[in-house]
Amino acid sequence: MIPETILARTILALDTPNLGQACDWVQQYRERVYAFKIGGALAIGHGLPIVRTLREAGAERVFLDLKFHDIPHAVALAVRHAAEFGVWMLTLHISGGAEMLCAARDAVADLPNRPLLMGVTVLTSIDAESLRAVGVARTPRAQVMRLAQLAYQTGLDGVIASPQEARLLRRRLPQPFLIVTPGVRPAGFELGDQKRTAPPEQSLRWGADYLVIGRALLAPKE
Ligand code: C5P
Repeated sequence: MIPETILARTILALDTPNLGQACDWVQQYRERVYAFKIGGALAIGHGLPIVRTLREAGAERVFLDLKFHDIPHAVALAVRHAAEFGVWMLTLHISGGAEMLCAARDAVADLPNRPLLMGVTVLTSIDAESLRAVGVARTPRAQVMRLAQLAYQTGLDGVIASPQEARLLRRRLPQPFLIVTPGVRPAGFELGDQKRTAPPEQSLRWGADYLVIGRALLAPKE
């Protein structure tokens, strides 16, 4: 059971390809969670008009988590187009580089209600060994700090990182720069593919502004 005070700072990950199921979850949770997140599973099958469908179902804020990572021109076009659907927050991989991040930022700078641009640091499913396997000798924490610094300098609105880095991130990067943490697991809930995790209370205590929670809410263990 996740307490209501924590749900109020939770972004619920609607990880399903089934739009009817996603709308049911929105109706069930719209008064209790802060926002809803959609990723490839919904966006590929139904396209971005689902942002409007979910808003009609009661989702006040929709976070588009497509983790853009491409050349600056392509990312700028994607970000601008996504913004036109009225998303509240979206993600891009910081490892795409400073030029890509600046192109994304500039692409929406003139919009009155532009989306918050969040940089993905190191996926919460990655540990030191898998990071080494892709050629990064640094620890996940050091790599997160390095990428977060770049996101901060290029004027992004915040980063996605694991709860385990939240405390150091908050110490180095002042508010209103946002820290959003997936990899949230209540005690006893199976880790699945997530490697750098923490329980929800601890994630908030360590400095997360919002938590992303999917399976721990939508597929609770009996
Ligand atoms: O089910 P669970 O709570 O593990 O879902 C976590 C969600 O957060 C997924 O939708 C996943 O795409 C997303 N996410 C993540 N790690 C990141 C960025 C996003 O797990 N670094």
